[in-house]
Amino acid sequence: MDRSDTLLAVKELHTYYGDSYVLQGVSLEVHRGQVVAILGRNGMGKTTLIRSIFGLTPPRQGEVLYRGKPIHALPPYRIAQQGVSLVPQGRRIFKNLSVKENLLLPTSVLAGATKTPRQDYVASSTWTLDAVLAEFPNLRERLGNGGNELSGGEQQMLAIGRALVSNPDLILMDEPSEGLSPLFVNHVGEIMSRVKSLGHAILLVEQNLALALKVADYVYIISSGRFVFSGTPDELSRQPEILNEHLGVSGAKTLPH
Ligand SMILES: Nc1ncnc2c1ncn2[C@@H]1O[C@H](COP(=O)(O)OP(=O)(O)O)[C@@H](O)[C@H]1O
Ligand SMILES: [Mg+2]
Repeated sequence: MDRSDTLLAVKELHTYYGDSYVLQGVSLEVHRGQVVAILGRNGMGKTTLIRSIFGLTPPRQGEVLYRGKPIHALPPYRIAQQGVSLVPQGRRIFKNLSVKENLLLPTSVLAGATKTPRQDYVASSTWTLDAVLAEFPNLRERLGNGGNELSGGEQQMLAIGRALVSNPDLILMDEPSEGLSPLFVNHVGEIMSRVKSLGHAILLVEQNLALALKVADYVYIISSGRFVFSGTPDELSRQPEILNEHLGVSGAKTLPH
């Protein structure tokens, strides 16, 4: 199905690490302004999928189309220049740089992007440094601190803030709530809702089912490199056997409603 508001289309992706065959024909779509969640147990291929989309582990077969144009042969910085940003699993902030330096880094990396103007869905003026700091007051207080002086929750806010300053149309988030206290998990959920309301699309990998189902418009479940379910959060919550088999949860306890 091709829709005019399709931002990202992944078609029959096959990705390997050497001889190890990880993604075994994965297809998905993210439409403009949508939050799409990928759920699945550890080791099923979620991070590999994010890495394949962002050019870090290119697929051996298949296509990744962004705004209808192939990006699967491009290096990550070229993909970033087109309006995609990544919040990697485990945050990966630069611990030797200050909070401010971390936040301004994408701006310098993307300086060349203006040569090929994007038709943005999200205004390029939305996320200035000030706007990011207004969203994350903790970071404002710690602008001069090194990344290594932040708590886990603050590091995650920094990783998300850093992804926002390039005003991406699509944000790839790999387990943003991993290892966070319930307070920060809530904050991450609120930020995703706000980011979505501003017109950004999010492709979200999550193990926190309640969080994913609360913010997602559409859900895919991955098992051993293949999707075994796709549908709306409502459709998923009506199929407890799928939740049990592929996520190892008894649905009733963890669902948001
Ligand atoms: N760099 C790598 N080299 C070889 N195998 C890898 C590498 N990264 C991940 N894998 C393997 O690929 C599979 C999928 O991993 P991953 O995409 O990280 O899963 P998930 O994010 O769902 O936990 C796992 O079997 C994992 O061991
Ligand atoms: Mg992972």
